[in-house]
Amino acid sequence: MQLPRTGLAVVGAGYWGPNLVRTALATRAVRLRWLCDLDAERARAVLGDQTTVRATSCYDEVLDDPQVAAVAIATPAATHFELVSAALAAGKHVLVEKPLTTSTAEAEKLIVLAREAGLVLMCDHTYCYTPAVRQVRDLISAGDIGEVQFIDSVRINLGLVQPDVDVLWDLAPHDLSILDFVLPEQVAPVAVAAHTADPIGAGRACLAYLSIWLSNDALAHVHVNWLSPTKIRTTVFGGSKQTVVWDDMNPAARLMIHDRGVDRLPADPLAPDERRQALISYRIGDARIPALAEREALMSVLAEFTGAIAERRKPLTDGTAGLRVLSLLEAASQSAECGGARVLVRKAGV
Ligand SMILES: NC(=O)c1ccc[n+]([C@@H]2O[C@H](COP(=O)([O-])OP(=O)(O)OC[C@H]3O[C@@H](n4cnc5c(N)ncnc54)[C@H](O)[C@@H]3O)[C@@H](O)[C@H]2O)c1
Repeated sequence: MQLPRTGLAVVGAGYWGPNLVRTALATRAVRLRWLCDLDAERARAVLGDQTTVRATSCYDEVLDDPQVAAVAIATPAATHFELVSAALAAGKHVLVEKPLTTSTAEAEKLIVLAREAGLVLMCDHTYCYTPAVRQVRDLISAGDIGEVQFIDSVRINLGLVQPDVDVLWDLAPHDLSILDFVLPEQVAPVAVAAHTADPIGAGRACLAYLSIWLSNDALAHVHVNWLSPTKIRTTVFGGSKQTVVWDDMNPAARLMIHDRGVDRLPADPLAPDERRQALISYRIGDARIPALAEREALMSVLAEFTGAIAERRKPLTDGTAGLRVLSLLEAASQSAECGGARVLVRKAGV
């Protein structure tokens, strides 16, 4: 039996919105009805002249349409709270781009609104829907890599200096949402320290180094940077048994699983003069490249969104996942303002 299509409106026809439009048009479970942007001409240009999808600059017109069951919002972060609140108040399910909002206080309000109205609130943490990150999550939850000991993430390139947010709020949501997605339930971030710089005088941080202490004594590190002429998108997930290297710029080997690591041997059976050398032993094993499905992340995002609506369940990256990312971002900004001091992460939850 085929489920009825979800009537969808996309809001925002700038850089990212057209990707949602393209994906919605390719998704059987969706009927794209509107593209809304303050600049209606831009929306029309994105849709082209052979479309039945309507363009508008009037958000109320979209929300008044009973055939619209859901909206996907790809506008600047500062507008998310208002647009998401209005959509939820109008009874629409919402998919909203990262970051969910610009503060945890706003995010908590949205989560409560969605819960009370029985509507889906999903955050587009796109990378969580890539086959590579799904695989890392499965490897960690199956215990294959052992205890997570470190995570090291580098996301640098010549990026667009954003007019409204610094590099932490622009790029780090990707790394932080991945961290949130792959870590086992019992491991959570406890504190952060962020060091930022603005060497070109842009008026906001253009590069940032973020350290995140985890509850199992592991440490994660994120480097985000708009000023790097080389593009690097690499994350190393270090475990007590195996280490996974995700290089998103290398389609032939996006994931490499190294059976290598450092073991600490029990000291007891050794004589005191043997201890120093024997305590640490290095395992040098094979590395393998797992086969990954070739599936565009945004297709999976929309499948998850429509699936959550049809099955009346929480999506994988729901409002609370967005809230946890915001807790980290807020702590990181606070730390950066205090010259990189260690700041405790507020426990997110409503
Ligand atoms: N998931 C990802 O990988 C990814 C990638 C890039 C951007 N994003 C996110 O997408 C969002 C948009 O980013 P962007 O780079 O496309 O921004 P952008 O500035 O290129 O486009 C934003 C568009 O929204 C429109 N807009 C602004 N306020 C509006 C309103 N109240 N009603 C209707 N339209 C409005 C603007 O006219 C503009 O066309 C941000 O939250 C950003 O973080 C996500």
